[in-house]
Order: sequence, then C-alpha cells, then structure tokens
Amino acid sequence: MRTYKAAPKASMLIESMRDIGYSLETALADIIDNSITSGASEIDIMVPPADTEARLGILDNGEGMTEEELLNAMRPGSQNPLEGRGAADLGRFGLGLKTASFSQCRRLTVVTKQTGVISAAVWDLDYVAEEDDWLVQIPEDTMSIPWVDRLGDHGTLVLWENLDRAIGTNKIQENLTRRTDEACAHLELVFHRFLAPGQKEKKVTIKVNARPLKAFDPFHSKHTATMKGPPEAIKVGDHEVAFQAFTLPHHKKVSPKDWEYYAGREGYIKNQGFYVYRERRLIIYGTWFGLARQTDLTKLARVRIDMPNGLDAEWKIDVKKASAQPPPQVRDRLRRIVETIGATSKRVYTERGRRLTEKNRLPIWNRVQDKGEIIYRVNREHPVLTDFTTRLSADLRLDFKKIIELFGATLPMDALFSDLSSTPEKVAGQDVTDETLNHSIVTAVRALREKGVPDDDLYDILSLAAPFRTHLERTEAFLKKILEEDNANG
Ligand SMILES: Nc1ncnc2c1ncn2[C@@H]1O[C@H](COP(=O)(O)OP(=O)(O)OP(=O)(O)O)[C@@H](O)[C@H]1O
Ligand SMILES: [Mg+2]
Repeated sequence: MRTYKAAPKASMLIESMRDIGYSLETALADIIDNSITSGASEIDIMVPPADTEARLGILDNGEGMTEEELLNAMRPGSQNPLEGRGAADLGRFGLGLKTASFSQCRRLTVVTKQTGVISAAVWDLDYVAEEDDWLVQIPEDTMSIPWVDRLGDHGTLVLWENLDRAIGTNKIQENLTRRTDEACAHLELVFHRFLAPGQKEKKVTIKVNARPLKAFDPFHSKHTATMKGPPEAIKVGDHEVAFQAFTLPHHKKVSPKDWEYYAGREGYIKNQGFYVYRERRLIIYGTWFGLARQTDLTKLARVRIDMPNGLDAEWKIDVKKASAQPPPQVRDRLRRIVETIGATSKRVYTERGRRLTEKNRLPIWNRVQDKGEIIYRVNREHPVLTDFTTRLSADLRLDFKKIIELFGATLPMDALFSDLSSTPEKVAGQDVTDETLNHSIVTAVRALREKGVPDDDLYDILSLAAPFRTHLERTEAFLKKILEEDNANG
C-alpha cells in the first residue's frame, strides 16, 4: 500500500491552535488545573501594571518536573486522552498548557524545579514560524527569567510574554484592571471548592498580585435560609455521579449586599441551573441542559453535580474544560430533579404570594368563563385604568371604554393559537418600557395602599402580577426608589 506522510506544517498548525476559543479566564483556569494536579497548595498569578513590560506569570509550589518530564509536557498531545488518569487529575488531553497559553500570548516559557534542579523550555511562535518546525528552545541562562527567583525547592512557573491576545497591544491600564478583575471573579467560582475545601480536602490558596482570591460558593450553602435537597447519587458504569439541589434564600432573607453578591456576574436568571464539577473543579454552570427553561420562578435553584474524571468521554468534556453534556442515564435523573426543584422554588415565591394576591389581584386581562364560553376581557378595575379614567372628562371616558372594548373583542385568537402550538417559546408580548413599568408600579402601589396593604407586602404582590412578574429586577429597583422617595417626602 502506498502511504503519504501528511504531517502538519508547524508554522500553520501552531497558529490555528491559538483559536480554540479560550478567554483570559478559561486559559488561566487551565494553567491552574495543572498546578493543582501537581499538588500545589499555593498558586500566584502575577499581572504587572500596564506601564511596565507586558507579561503574566503563574507560579506554583507543586511537585515540579524533571527536564525529561518538562520536554514531554511541552509537546502538544503530551498524553493520550484515552488513557485513564490518576484520581483527582484535572487534565485529560495533554494540550491545555500549550493551547491555553498560545490563546493569550506568542511566547510561553515554563520553568520548573524538582529537588532543587531547575529546567526551562520555551515555545516561541515567531521562532516556530521562522523555522517552520516544532522546535522548543531550551534557554541556558535560567536565572534571568522574570520571577524565577520566586520558585521554591520544587514548583513550576508558567510565563506568558508577547501578550498580543491576553491584554492587547495597547496596554491601557483600565482595560487590564477590568480584565484581571473579571478573571478573578471567574476563578473564585471555578475553584471555590479548592479555595474553601470541605473536611479532609486540601486547601489551595490562589493569589492575584498578592491578593488572595475568596471562594465564591454559588449555593450560599452556609446560610440557614438556603434550602438543601437530599444528597443523591447514581452509578454510571463503575463510577458515581452525585447530585444535590439548592434553593438560594429569597431576597427578603439576606442583606442587599449578599443578594447582589450571590446573583453572580450574570444575575440570578442566567445563573440558575446545573453546576457540573469534575474532581471538584467547576466545568459548566447556569444551564438546565435543555430540560427546563431559565424562568424567573426557578431563578433561585442551583443543582450541584459531581462527576469523576473517569467519565470524561461520557460527558463529552472539551479541551477547554468549559463544556459538557450529561450521558443519557444521568439525563433521566436530572429531569426528575428539575421537576422537584421547580416545585420547591416556586413555593418560595408563592406561599406568601398566594395568600396576598388572592385578596389583591392585579390582572390586566380577566379570563371569564360564561355559559360554556371563555372570554378574555380587559380588567377595567385595574389601578392603571381606573387612575386614567378618573382623569378623563365624561365623554372621553365613554370613548375610552369603547376603545378598551374594541381591544378585547379583536384579540387575534387564531394567530395566537397557531403560534403557541407551533413555536410557543417564540411568542412574546411587547416589551414594557421603563416609563410604562414605573407608571404601572406607581398606580398599583397607590391602589394597594388604599386597600390597606402594608409596604412590606407590595413587592410580593407585584411580583406575581403581569407585567411585573416578567420584569422582576426592574420592578424591584423602581419600587425601591418609589418607596424611598415617599419616605423622604414624609
Ligand atoms: N504546573 C505544573 N506542574 C507539574 N507538571 C505540570 C504542570 N503543568 C503541566 N505539567 C505537566 O505537563 C503535562 C501537560 O500539561 P497539559 O495541560 O498540556 O495537559 P494535561 O494537563 O495532561 O491535559 P489537558 O489538556 O486536559 O490539560 C501534564 O500532564 C503534567 O504532567
Ligand atoms: Mg492541563
């Protein structure tokens, strides 16, 4: 048989390896994975201010490598992904160190020390391009490498230079500070179980420019008002996948500061869902894997899933460790968990809410069942409508009544029905502007107060009525402002 050696061209493939979709924070997380796997208890990320030489260092006090191990580690594909990994090994593909680094910089230096012996190796993308060959440079003078003096007796320093991607060519301080802050927030979440370990687990300290990162526990699990489901587990082959559902405390049970903090960067709605951990390292979060929608009612629900690294293939873990898909047998169990958590979460909102709203209903549309017919009718008793009507002269009031009647009589039922049965997720009402929402809140609040509803209950009642219940964050903010202004005016 004739064969042809289709070896990749170094200069081209190495450039393509840069673009598998890392961001600064996912790239840093991949480097930190390696440090944790090597047994480090201290990891230091150094990002000097923008007006100095642009470089970034990640230093650990792990086991370090021999020169042979280091040279193997520099090889793209240093280990076969089909091989099993040691317990708690956070790696899989033998690629992370290279792909994560190249995604951010053009020059990667790794300096490592084991039993006091130091070794270093460099991937320089410009040199690879020039030589068009997979050539790692081995520097003779290791002492002049930045931060090398900070290596202890054993450990590893990963140095990124020529940071064309991580920071960009114009090193604006503001940009750098912002990106570093974002990366810190991400790492505080991804590694929270190493930063604040459970009993018998090893603690890892991660510092960014000497500032220790603080674990961000997305389940707010220490708070007494957090509802915890029972720990559960299922077997997948020889491995175990564990689950636990959490419902975060309702905003009335926590300080405004904590409410804001536990929302996370993307807010409660987007951060609800499953949180999948592989060997305690967070891989993916804020998704229901298509088993439910991210609705306002379930926004306090977060479910922890723990999987071991032996199930990588079943979960379809990707190189960046940023995506995963549950295998079918896990999916079935997740579906049931989703159903129960939906019910619990809704209760947090509705227990009190139901009692309050039964007396204080605020529907815009009434569904009236009459002689076998179902009629949708605009509720003319709604505070926004009564408020408006009282300000009209008698003849305009009559005209207005006619207009309202006309709207009710001409609801496009057929079109709605057909759209709702084919693509329900695409059917949405017109959005409410800030102005309209605010006006509705002002009038609703006035009407509710006239009925003797105390200020403390206003939010709960509004949060169950349209249009407020689909715009809770804005409603809360406006209501707060209205109440504050009222208080200020006595
Ligand atoms: N900080 C470190 N300390 C000790 N050894 C390291 C360190 N970083 C990398 N290594 C070694 O280099 C190897 C290659 O790392 P790399 O991140 O490229 O692949 P991986 O961790 O094996 O798999 P993945 O691609 O899933 O991250 C590791 O398997 C490890 O043996
Ligand atoms: Mg790795």
